[in-house]
Amino acid sequence: MRICVIGTGYVGLVTGTCFADFGVNVTCVDKDAEKIEMLKRGEIPIFEPGLAELVSKNIREERLSFTTDLETAIKESLVVFIAVGTPPKDDGGADLSYVKDVARSIAENLNGYKVIVTKSTVPVGTGRLIEEIVGSVQDEHSFDVASNPEFLREGSAIEDFMKPNRVVLGARSERAIEILKDLYSPLYLIETPVLITNVETAELVKYASNAFLATKISFINEVASICERVGADVHMVSKGMGLDNRIGPKFLHPGPGYGGSCFPKDTLAITKIAKNNDFTFKIVEAAVEVNERQTQIMLEKIKRALGGDLKGVKISTLGLTFKPNTDDIRESPAIRIVEGLVKEGAVVSVFDPAGMEHSRELLAGSVSYCEDSYEGADGASALIILTEWNQFRKLDLERIKGLLKEPRIIDLRNVYEGDALRAEGFQYVSVGRERLSG
Ligand code: UGA
Repeated sequence: MRICVIGTGYVGLVTGTCFADFGVNVTCVDKDAEKIEMLKRGEIPIFEPGLAELVSKNIREERLSFTTDLETAIKESLVVFIAVGTPPKDDGGADLSYVKDVARSIAENLNGYKVIVTKSTVPVGTGRLIEEIVGSVQDEHSFDVASNPEFLREGSAIEDFMKPNRVVLGARSERAIEILKDLYSPLYLIETPVLITNVETAELVKYASNAFLATKISFINEVASICERVGADVHMVSKGMGLDNRIGPKFLHPGPGYGGSCFPKDTLAITKIAKNNDFTFKIVEAAVEVNERQTQIMLEKIKRALGGDLKGVKISTLGLTFKPNTDDIRESPAIRIVEGLVKEGAVVSVFDPAGMEHSRELLAGSVSYCEDSYEGADGASALIILTEWNQFRKLDLERIKGLLKEPRIIDLRNVYEGDALRAEGFQYVSVGRERLSG
């Protein structure tokens, strides 16, 4: 089977490459000629562990190719995946202009039956919109529109694609479903559950899943704040909750709030979808609000630990990305906190193993950039952990203590054990694990 994937952003590139690895012939298309030339050379424009190797392997084995020639790619394919961006608009809704452009191009190049699949996260009703666009441009060839949402996490996208918890296929016709099932047949061997449904349901599964996970995070972040007031340990509360398999242990890790290109965008989009349909999605609206408040709560925690006034106080921060194993700083709580510290007058230094480049423009001259985890600690009044990169989990604490002006670690990702650090002479502050002081 030959398929094409339109859009070589994060979702498109991972999807195309992984299908090629399944043995499918895949053409990845993008209008950015420079990016396509890079990809042809096996150079990857995004940070994703294992992806470069998989791209090179599948180029070599001639199952994966890259082009700007959209027309030929569509004409040669039975299945056309739409994986272009759906950036948020000012009102929180998703901007569908790229999706609509692609739908028109597909219609203009239909030369036989094809399945047109949305892989980008699109508002409910987009499948129907694509159907209308393609049907209005041409009526010579039959086609089906399907929704096959992705559930890839940055940093573990290949694993998530190859061993997913589920595959969701939404379509109106049996023919489209059979073709898509065939495409995913390697996953039957590992007994991946496949949910077959209508297009609208599949579209909503994606938003509801992300909104639920975001709500789980905001929930535990509020529980952490309660823990600090009553002398409970949020880790044990999470554990106690998670052992109930109706709740599950995942996404109950407290911290500075969720970020990235998905949760913030999708939570706003689902509340907008609800609003457009005369309904208020109260829980998710609250989850968004809690996430925004979390930055403030973290800043207050830092101020409290440092005696209230941050003016001129030297602070070393570790982590800029919204989570480890990515270079993505979009909507990163770490960035929001660094900006907050700078606003309070602190003298801030930053270090991140992969997020420094992207943050330079954003933080433009307001912070100093360090070479490693230790440089910023020299003479600082606190070391703050903002992202839980593995290399921050086992810092040389003796060295840190020798460098810091005052031995103080503020661990907003709860990667250390308070008792152990206090025994080494540190003032240690975490999220939801010790009583609020002052
Ligand atoms: C998320 C979903 O997990 C994927 O299933 C989905 O496909 C993807 O969005 C998407 O829509 O494309 P991702 O944004 O890569 O994936 O990141 P996550 O690993 O879900 O983390 C999101 C944020 O939540 C991070 O800032 C992380 O630090 C935070 N988080 C996560 C917590 O604060 N606590 C937790 O317990 C878990």
